Amino acid sequence: MNDLPAPAADELAHSAELAVLIHREIAAAGGSIPFSQFMERCLYAPGLGYYSAGRRKFGAGGDFVTAPEISPLFGRCLAKSCAAVLESLGGGDILEFGAGSGQLAIDLLTELESMNCLPARYLVLERSADLKARQQQAIARQLPQLLDRVSWIDELPATGFRGVMLANEVLDAMSVERFQWDGESAELFHVRSEADGFAWQLQTGKVSEATTSIDAWVSDSDLCAGYVSEFNTSVQPWLRSVADSLAQGLVLLIDYGYPQHEYFHPQRSSGTLMCHYRHYAHADPLLWPGLQDITAHVDFTAVAEAAVAADLEVAGYTTQAWFLLDCGLEECLLQSGATDTTDYMKAAQQAKTLILPGEMGERFKCIGLTRGIDIPVPGFRLQDQRERL
Ligand SMILES: C[S@@+](CC[C@H](N)C(=O)[O-])C[C@H]1O[C@@H](n2cnc3c(N)ncnc32)[C@H](O)[C@@H]1O
Repeated sequence: MNDLPAPAADELAHSAELAVLIHREIAAAGGSIPFSQFMERCLYAPGLGYYSAGRRKFGAGGDFVTAPEISPLFGRCLAKSCAAVLESLGGGDILEFGAGSGQLAIDLLTELESMNCLPARYLVLERSADLKARQQQAIARQLPQLLDRVSWIDELPATGFRGVMLANEVLDAMSVERFQWDGESAELFHVRSEADGFAWQLQTGKVSEATTSIDAWVSDSDLCAGYVSEFNTSVQPWLRSVADSLAQGLVLLIDYGYPQHEYFHPQRSSGTLMCHYRHYAHADPLLWPGLQDITAHVDFTAVAEAAVAADLEVAGYTTQAWFLLDCGLEECLLQSGATDTTDYMKAAQQAKTLILPGEMGERFKCIGLTRGIDIPVPGFRLQDQRERL
């Protein structure tokens, strides 16, 4: 961790302010809080959490780069999938969860406009007030002619949504429980206060709703005592509300993760928690609350099971590489408008970052969940890997 760039004094002051708030919650809870609560505050405490406060997160000047920040080809490919679904429904809306800088919305809408297949409305559901303001500015600046189609909502439409719901790298930004398997049952990690920060505290011998559901998931595996991993308790209720809202259409979730047998693999014995600070990745989420991103990989089997339990169909599961290739990445690259060799080489390099196995191509997966759709969804036709879930 010594090689992490040191935060500036004002950043450390900001982090100290959030730390005070968390120390208070820990004291009020009698000495410790579940890691999920700590992570939630670090990312989303109003005005102070990583996603809620004002510093730039995405792209070269931020902490990490997401696919829409790498290349407009990502959004242009997703547009092909959205267009097919919207056409099959005879129209509809798009709803994007957690739109980050707004770049994906801009690329998608630009491509859908050129295909003459715009959604009636483009809704954005974003938890962070700061990001919402940035998204509004970016769309007003880059797509003024479409701004009146875009609106920001604070909660999902209760019912009746028809169209496509999208979430790129949103599930990995939901807070998770961290647990240790003792050979027979799971024990949750809590976070306690220390004189100079925070420390882990294992809740030995305590059974809770979370440990019971983790036990059910892990008990069939042959994990050794001491195995540490994470469990996203929000996926099920989140997908339930998504399914309640969706009358007809596609839910497309893209994120880094694995099917469950790979997620809880004996070799992944210290879990998948990862933090990002100015393009440095490390594994200590207790450091500098509010200054760094904290993520956990996605268990796509859990996503599929929660979807089926909520009466959605799992229409496809594949890697980001196969998804983008099936959506016509190569054609999009050829039509990318690059007018000289340098521009083309740059666009080709970006495409490679999206699909090469050692880059994002295999680490990132796409899952398509549908209701009432009878077309093969573009993205999942070339290489459907549902049997791996
Ligand atoms: C890692 S960023 C990804 C941003 C963007 N989708 C991209 O690909 O660049 C995670 C985003 O998800 C948002 N987020 C997290 N949980 C959410 C939820 N339950 N509903 C809506 N947005 C959420 C965060 O505020 C943030 O904008």
